[in-house]
Amino acid sequence: MNLNFAERMERLGTETAFEVMARAKALEAQGREIVHLQIGEPDFPTPKHIIEAGVEALRAGETHYSPAAGIMPLREAIVEDVDSRRGIRPKVEQVVVTPGAKPIMFFAILALIDSDDEIIYPNPGFPIYESVINFVGGKAVPLPLWEENDFRFSPEEFRSLVTDRTKLIIINSPHNPTGGILTRQDNEVIAEVAREKEILVLSDEVYKNIIYEGEHHSIYSLPGMQERTILLDGFSKTYAMTGWRLGFGVMPEELAQKIERLMINSNSCTATFSQHAAIQALQGPTEEVDAMLEEFRKRRDIIVAGLNDIPGMSCITPKGAFYAFPNVKKINEGSQELENYLLNEAGVAVLSGTAFGKYGDGYLRFSYANSVENIEKGLERIKNALKNI
Ligand SMILES: Cc1ncc(COP(=O)(O)O)c(C=O)c1O
Repeated sequence: MNLNFAERMERLGTETAFEVMARAKALEAQGREIVHLQIGEPDFPTPKHIIEAGVEALRAGETHYSPAAGIMPLREAIVEDVDSRRGIRPKVEQVVVTPGAKPIMFFAILALIDSDDEIIYPNPGFPIYESVINFVGGKAVPLPLWEENDFRFSPEEFRSLVTDRTKLIIINSPHNPTGGILTRQDNEVIAEVAREKEILVLSDEVYKNIIYEGEHHSIYSLPGMQERTILLDGFSKTYAMTGWRLGFGVMPEELAQKIERLMINSNSCTATFSQHAAIQALQGPTEEVDAMLEEFRKRRDIIVAGLNDIPGMSCITPKGAFYAFPNVKKINEGSQELENYLLNEAGVAVLSGTAFGKYGDGYLRFSYANSVENIEKGLERIKNALKNI
């Protein structure tokens, strides 16, 4: 039978990390041993006190629907958290809790973008931005990030991309896939344009706690930005809670109401027991999370040194997140071919930079959310396999 899919489905992209994972699993099923350096999730268990809170909530009968925008104690805890980290206190009505941070991206774009509205987004960048913009019929306008500028954008180039149709600017700091961060000055450039031209900013800050140098700066804290920022954050990365599906957005109240309506039409609510665990994540002890960060820092230093030791690769030191994005332009293969070659020949799963957009060509993305032992094994295998091309 011909299923006659809706035309919009042709415009929906994907996250190739899931596809590479499937290919790696297929090789493992044939008996191959694969080193996984493609996955964007912490390999640590969720901290114990958070698990306890989730289990306790299940035992206490928190197994039913909850309000579509989230349970009040969690929304209040998020207000406190935003206030303490960004110095701005939103109203609780501005907070919406969703199953992961991804739905905030999807729903905000769905609620705001009409055909031909333009959205500036970072490239290379998280592939879901471009995918959802295209899906809803918007015009995706890539903002290149340059290695020679620590993977930050050029202010002149940014200004040249803004038009009367620009409706939204997406930023992400610390950044996936480059590990770059936006400085206060970078945010000021964006904020100035956003205020002047009445443009909304979607600030994806899911990696805000995973930062190795200096402090995270949020555009949300700049004057006049509270009313035009959609702050996107979540629990997956900071608290190793990817499978709990927990994220949130803080935004102008009118938009929060639209997103609540989209929640009612899709998920009804975020899993109720997960939300109770999230309160503990925000308010409980921080030792385990602090230890994760220190471990990530150690791995970052090992992987960057190892990549720079591979002939043909060069890697700048990422300042945040848990990704390294080496330049592989001197190797005699395209990024995509290299991704395939390293998986099939070296048994190491990494992602082609092109999975993150056209400006990712000539790069590979390594996730160092894996043990030092596996990182070292992966690097060794790659070094040996590259001798053959
Ligand atoms: C930049 C960025 N934003 C958002 C997400 C979504 O995270 P989640 O939906 O698990 O909260 C990810 C996950 O990989 C990401 O890398």
